[in-house]
Amino acid sequence: RAATMARSYSMAPNVSRVVVIGSGQMGGGIGQAAAQSGYDVTLVDMSQDILANNLKAIEKSLTRVAKKKSGTEAESFVKDIMSRISVSTSAPEAVADADIVIEAIVENLDVKRKLWADLDKAAKKSTIFASNTSSLAIGDMATVTERQDRFCGLHFFNPVSVMKLVEVIKTDKTSEETNTTMMQFGESLNKRCVQCTDTPGFIVNRLLVPYLMEAIRLLERGEATKQDIDAGMKLGAGHPMGPFQLADYVGLDTIKFIMDGWHAKYPEDPLFNPSPLLTKLVEDGHHGVKTKQGFYEY
Ligand code: CAA
Ligand code: NAD
Repeated sequence: RAATMARSYSMAPNVSRVVVIGSGQMGGGIGQAAAQSGYDVTLVDMSQDILANNLKAIEKSLTRVAKKKSGTEAESFVKDIMSRISVSTSAPEAVADADIVIEAIVENLDVKRKLWADLDKAAKKSTIFASNTSSLAIGDMATVTERQDRFCGLHFFNPVSVMKLVEVIKTDKTSEETNTTMMQFGESLNKRCVQCTDTPGFIVNRLLVPYLMEAIRLLERGEATKQDIDAGMKLGAGHPMGPFQLADYVGLDTIKFIMDGWHAKYPEDPLFNPSPLLTKLVEDGHHGVKTKQGFYEY
């Protein structure tokens, strides 16, 4: 396989089949990254329409990467990688021969726990389960399975094909063997892997999400416009996007799910108080770039 040969990172031992459940912004990117590194990937979602749209988005993203390659290499690059990605609407069927299952569905603990309990019955004993959750405790999901030693967090960043980081989260039940395999898997995707314990938000979101919320509260108090806050953080702090652009990019529904979860867990901490403005936008269906309206219009 041309794309595999061209990579400088080797694949993780004993891993060839990767199944990604939830083929949205993150699941598609994770599937793309895995296929780019030579793994056979199955993307699972609720409908063929969602999957077809996601395949289009992956092809578009690969075409952007291929633009930097020469003629025939660019053509076979996209084709080779796309040929390694299949789709399914049946999670239990898809995971039957998976080596790794990565979950990237909605940020809701009950929904994730139900999924993991079902998948635990359908997957091989040796299959490693990993959640891409932004904010939930990995341990709270692992307990619904019989494989707490083969359960961990594998947290990617949006857009997956550009962002170079993966957080690998080990609970106190995750085995060393699982942790090592997942560090190797993350590195095989050409990402820098950092290790974190099962603490809310891990490293990056524990710092990033409160920062996004502080920007929303600054706007709510009428102290500056969103345009000026965005310009301030881009030009004054060197961020590639301002906080409102980034919040729209991440998804306002996802940010609200994260905040609701943390507020319920730590009701005394004012850092996690709900924001009326964020609540209103989400209730109105303005979830950011993915719905073409958030703090800004797209
Ligand atoms: N696929 C492939 N390549 C892409 C891409 C994609 N989807 N998006 C960007 N690129 C690459 C391309 O190489 C592009 O060059 P070309 O236009 O020549 O193809 C290059 O990046 C630059 O892209 P753009 O010119 O479109 O835009 P930009 O320079 O503003 O970069 C960005 C876009 C990378 C998204 C940048 O704005 C950025 O880094 N933003 C911050 C993103 C961030 O903080 N992400 C973390 C969110 S938090 C999270 O993910 C965790 C969580 O749990 C919520
Ligand atoms: P998204 O809304 O773009 O995609 C979620 C997908 O999951 C949708 O296509 C939905 O149809 C599908 N889905 C929901 N329930 C399902 C089920 N039971 N079975 C199969 N598919 C199901 O969301 P996203 O932004 O990709 O986020 C997904 C996960 O990744 C969340 O846990 C989120 O916190 C996390 N995350 C998000 C970001 C980000 O920047 N958006 C970054 C890192 C991690």
